[in-house]
Amino acid sequence: MSKKRVAVLISGRGSNLQALLDAEQDAYQIVLVVSNVPGAAGLDRAREAGIEALALDHKPYGKDREAFERDLDSLLVLRNIEIVALAGFMRVLTPFFVRAWAGRLVNIHPSLLPKYPGINTHARALEARDTEHGATVHLVVEEVDAGEIIGQASMPILAGDTPETLAHRLLAVEHALYPACLAKLARSL
Ligand code: GAR
Repeated sequence: MSKKRVAVLISGRGSNLQALLDAEQDAYQIVLVVSNVPGAAGLDRAREAGIEALALDHKPYGKDREAFERDLDSLLVLRNIEIVALAGFMRVLTPFFVRAWAGRLVNIHPSLLPKYPGINTHARALEARDTEHGATVHLVVEEVDAGEIIGQASMPILAGDTPETLAHRLLAVEHALYPACLAKLARSL
């Protein structure tokens, strides 16, 4: 079976992108990285790995989210992308893009969904006095952070944890979870 061609969308440092690149890419092959933030550190990670890295700045599009997504979609279609993986891509996608990539659009979210969709997940887990925290890889649907769950991984919350220590410790969990889930999705398509 041929490897699925994957584009990773990022907005920042790209540590999950790095984990996806470093993992054994036997079911998928990352062929493109796009950032909506020019200068995102993750773009350099892609270039260092010899992968095409593009910035598509959302700002010139103003409030026209769909126009931004139409141009993004064209970039993906031109390169025969089969799966789009969001890795710290901090923009909510419109129904246009979500429908176009339904079943092939995946995201990693830093909580044990359905707990804490949206932002500030680490602080919310602490406020709720949860004893465990975790990350979820899920398909993207129109409702934010609500799609079918592909995989989850959890870790204990320790006495003295802050949102920052939780976020830091959870990253290592994310880095193991995301490649496994992306490979699982790639094999299922
Ligand atoms: C990760 O913790 C990821 O789960 C989170 O942003 C961070 C990106 O880090 N994503 C979201 O909050 C999506 N709503 P990275 O750029 O180092 O991969």
